[in-house]
Amino acid sequence: MRTVAESLGDCELSFLGRSPIDVPRARAQQAAYARALGALGCHIEWLPPLSSHPDGVFVEDTAVVVDEVAVITRPGAASRRGEVESTAVVLAGHRPVVRIRGPATIEGGDVLRVGRQFYVGASARSNAAGVAQLGAALAPHGYSVQAVAMRDCLHLKSAATFIAPGTLLANPAWVDPAVFGCERVIEVAPEEPFGANTLTLGGVSLVSADYPATRRRLEQAGIATQVLEVGELHKAEAALTCLSIILGA
Ligand code: GLY
Repeated sequence: MRTVAESLGDCELSFLGRSPIDVPRARAQQAAYARALGALGCHIEWLPPLSSHPDGVFVEDTAVVVDEVAVITRPGAASRRGEVESTAVVLAGHRPVVRIRGPATIEGGDVLRVGRQFYVGASARSNAAGVAQLGAALAPHGYSVQAVAMRDCLHLKSAATFIAPGTLLANPAWVDPAVFGCERVIEVAPEEPFGANTLTLGGVSLVSADYPATRRRLEQAGIATQVLEVGELHKAEAALTCLSIILGA
């Protein structure tokens, strides 16, 4: 994880209007998120703050990590490209590092994994060359990578996340759930289009407090949830998965 920068309010925004962000409150929400991950068994390693990169807190976008390798991305947002080096330095202590090279672009928020299958959203941030380079980096280790069409949102994981293998939470207005071939698709509540971004660890799905109706749908489906307040980070067009890179899950 990386500490929220003072400049968070200057973040990139694509599908969201700008509204003032309370940075101390964002930091408190990030700290609660870190405590929740800790309680679920994670040891958290903090990356240095990057004051010149307002979106640096959204570390997910800077790397795709599997047991065998860490793939350092090349973000589609030019303002975010300077974030990746400090991520690479830390991940090099954990995994061999491979880099995505231009003109390819890919952001981790577009990369959705289930088992040894990776789906990459064909967003404005991730291009076909990025999908191909990620595929080339992961194929030697037995992973498959395929592009997925999406629309009207920033990243694929804005539109869908896996709750468990075979169980997907999705906003069908932004991605066709059928492409994932899941046994069970839970749709976000229609009044909560941003509700699909959850982070499941140790059998518990972390859900934003802003999406209570979607959380009820998960609970009714027998899924254990935990609510986290991340409203200040939502104002930066971000959600739960954006705030961490999970190793060893
Ligand atoms: N603010 C998140 C992003 O656009 O990368």
